[in-house]
Amino acid sequence: MTVHIGAKPGEIAETVLMPGDPYRARWAAETFLEGAKLVNEVRGMLGFTGHWKGHPVTIQGSGMGMPSLSIYANELMKEYGAKTLVRIGSCGGMQEHVAIRDVIIAMTASTLTSPSSGFFREMNFAPCADWSLLRAAVAAAEARGTRTHVGGIYSSDVFYAERPDLDEQMVRHGILGVEMEAAELYTLASRHKCRALAVLTVSDHLQTGEALPAEDREKTFGDMVEIALEAAFA
Ligand code: HPA
Repeated sequence: MTVHIGAKPGEIAETVLMPGDPYRARWAAETFLEGAKLVNEVRGMLGFTGHWKGHPVTIQGSGMGMPSLSIYANELMKEYGAKTLVRIGSCGGMQEHVAIRDVIIAMTASTLTSPSSGFFREMNFAPCADWSLLRAAVAAAEARGTRTHVGGIYSSDVFYAERPDLDEQMVRHGILGVEMEAAELYTLASRHKCRALAVLTVSDHLQTGEALPAEDREKTFGDMVEIALEAAFA
């Protein structure tokens, strides 16, 4: 057991899917895993372990934002031996050719700051996805016929942004979408010699103001979960 995860040794799989929302962790575990068992409920940040096509998988909520994700990802990698961590979550679309329901596979994740910024001092580290996971996720998405974009995303510290000029620069530089966790996950995975990827569903759009209706969420998020699982075990 760690400070924030109550699972016993051996109860966390080497492959971990990380949604921000703990209820989405429960939904994904109940929908996609066989024999899913609750392994963590400390602070309500639910985690489940079960099997997908015979492979052990944990689905552990990360909470929202990089500081929260950093706590869970650190403990999973350093204390529980997690090796492959795939964030599954939603993001805001930032380009006109990116539509609601599309999937974004994040090659890189830019930030203004992150929990690791202080660690790097004057260096601007470039958080990037694991290539084997990225390649496998793109192949899985193409095979399913999911509308998918691959490229850079922006991991923001705030959902309610007060600096439109920052978003404008991201849009101008081709950033596909904005979320709040991937950059720190990629950085921590690099540090701990693990593999990481973020597979995201566009749930709202910064330019059009469109948002995914609640009743569409399950089907759309299901594609993302299956792409993540297929990539992890390709
Ligand atoms: N901003 C930040 N994070 C998000 C957004 C957004 O618009 N949508 C989903 N996650």
